Amino acid sequence: MAEDPKFDRIAPKNFREYLRDFRRSLGIYKWVWDNMISAESKKWAKHKFIPLAILAIAIGTSQPFILSKVFDGLVTKNLSLIVAGVVIYSIILYAERWTMYFQQIAREWMLGLNYGSVDKKVTELMFEKSMGQHLQENAVLNVSNIDKGKWKTLDVQAMLLFEGIPSIATLLFVYIGIWIISWVAGSIISVVVFTYIIWSLYLNQKVMQQILPIDKELRSLNRYRYERWEKAERVKVSGRSGDELKYMTDRFNAVIKEDRNFWIWYIRQSRLKGAVRDMGVLCAMLYGIWLVWIGNWSVGLLYPLFAWTGQFKNNLWRVSEVEHQLNWHMPAVKAMIDAVTLPPAIKDRENALNLKEYEHPSIEFRSVSYVYPAGNTEQGLAHIKSNHHALVGINFIIEPGQKVALIGESGAGKSTIMRLLLRYMDPDGGEILVGGVNLRDIELNSWTRYHAYIAQDPKIFDGTIEYNLTYGLSQDEKSRLARADLWQIMQDFRVDFRDFKSRKDKGLDVRVGRGGIELSGGEKQRLMIAAAAIQNPKLLVVDEATSSLDSTIEKQVQDGLAKVLSGRRSAFIVAHRLSTVREICDRFIVLRSPNEVLEGESQIEAQADSFEELYEISSTFRRLANDQGLTI
Ligand SMILES: Nc1ncnc2c1ncn2[C@@H]1O[C@H](COP(=O)(O)OP(=O)(O)O)[C@@H](O)[C@H]1O
Ligand SMILES: [Mg+2]
Repeated sequence: MAEDPKFDRIAPKNFREYLRDFRRSLGIYKWVWDNMISAESKKWAKHKFIPLAILAIAIGTSQPFILSKVFDGLVTKNLSLIVAGVVIYSIILYAERWTMYFQQIAREWMLGLNYGSVDKKVTELMFEKSMGQHLQENAVLNVSNIDKGKWKTLDVQAMLLFEGIPSIATLLFVYIGIWIISWVAGSIISVVVFTYIIWSLYLNQKVMQQILPIDKELRSLNRYRYERWEKAERVKVSGRSGDELKYMTDRFNAVIKEDRNFWIWYIRQSRLKGAVRDMGVLCAMLYGIWLVWIGNWSVGLLYPLFAWTGQFKNNLWRVSEVEHQLNWHMPAVKAMIDAVTLPPAIKDRENALNLKEYEHPSIEFRSVSYVYPAGNTEQGLAHIKSNHHALVGINFIIEPGQKVALIGESGAGKSTIMRLLLRYMDPDGGEILVGGVNLRDIELNSWTRYHAYIAQDPKIFDGTIEYNLTYGLSQDEKSRLARADLWQIMQDFRVDFRDFKSRKDKGLDVRVGRGGIELSGGEKQRLMIAAAAIQNPKLLVVDEATSSLDSTIEKQVQDGLAKVLSGRRSAFIVAHRLSTVREICDRFIVLRSPNEVLEGESQIEAQADSFEELYEISSTFRRLANDQGLTI
């Protein structure tokens, strides 16, 4: 339900809740690692990157210790110690270079592989959902959430592998090193670590508590702003530019003030935290100096002590930052996981029946009902909306070759019937029978091949006319189609738009732009009809293909439809506009809204073979016909 995952996130009230959130984040990232990262990438990580990184850090950590021997050699004028130290140091430097080199190559491999495997997995899971689930755009399966989650997932993976693991390894090695040279310094550093980590967790928790609501407000303002940008036309036509600008500026200033105040507090706290850490480090250093002063330590040992405590400081900060980022990104990653792991609502039964290509069965709706669950409505309204009974007791038959029109007012449930027929979702009651077999028992792919669908809003891809025309064909079918055939289809369906005509079949290579932006509404719709015709379906399903078109264009689309429907093909055409279906259909069904259905009545108000007959028997039809100025 979360339109934006952070909106629903409850800020942790206390430390315990924060730690619980942290554990949950780790669980979520583990899921990503287990399920979205390819085996090959894991192999690179486990067998190459992580061992190499740890090796490089171990080697790097030993450097100051080797150098301390050189310093001792200098102080005591011991040439062989100096030479040995320098030689070992050079070897170590060289080894470190090489491990770094391999580590970077492994990193490149993993980045590419992770990117690929996360994308592939998300796409796979997206396509696995049934079509009805995609309709609930505002709910879980929200493309923008999934996209955001995907990027965050990649960020987090990179952060954990390339920052988290090396930082923790460095801390560990350096810590051990300090303990080895002096247990007192080691104890001092332990106290520093403990204070620092607790303090960081406390601050990170405060960030979540304070910044989540601020973040929520900023996002909401951003959405508001984008909507105004997108519909700038309306803002300007209404003369609201000035007001809008002021409103958005004021809102921004209010929230940014709060944001700034918090971060200034945070920076002060961090400074204090850093100062305490530095004090601890200084104490360890002073202790070392004192040891040298009283003659318990060689001067050389000061070098690793100073170097290691310095490294310690830097990596402590990085680890606390990684912890914070993990927690902060978690909601977005979680929202993506929720979306992609949503089980598909429609799955083939075992031994599902395969509809053969030559079969052309009748289709029957028997007492079909459907309820839209409340959760599917607009985000935020779910709690006030209840389940919506869109269809009750629907009965009708489409005989093979019959062209059936479904007529009814807007909101009556026409599209819902059509979605059930296309198996976007399954009915809640009753059954849809195809040649006497329940649609649920028929293999979904064979059912999809059986029909072609023309949606209300044309789904044009950014590509050429040819690409859009042949989109529904297999590679084999495409190669069997000659360009001359395609050109013929273009002419038949009048998709030889504008100047394409003069350029003959070159018109097929014309790009239509994103969403077909370079085509008019009628042109887009005709292109979709031609694409459906090319698939040569047994059943053509059309949803209000003409509702947004003017009457001249409607006529052209109608001609296109008439062309596809000549012959034995069956059709199921949903129409609000009666003129669209009058000539091309031979059976008409009138649907009324479920809330107009009285006790004992059927939601299907009437069925007939002609408009004249319907005019006699159906009051809804009479109303529609009169409203549309239709002469019967
Ligand atoms: N995804 C959905 N979630 C919830 N309610 C829906 C959804 N789609 C449609 N409805 C509701 O179901 C009813 C029938 O819608 P629909 O089948 O689209 O009608 P028609 O196509 O006849 O205009 C309407 O009241 C509509 O608000
Ligand atoms: Mg509709």
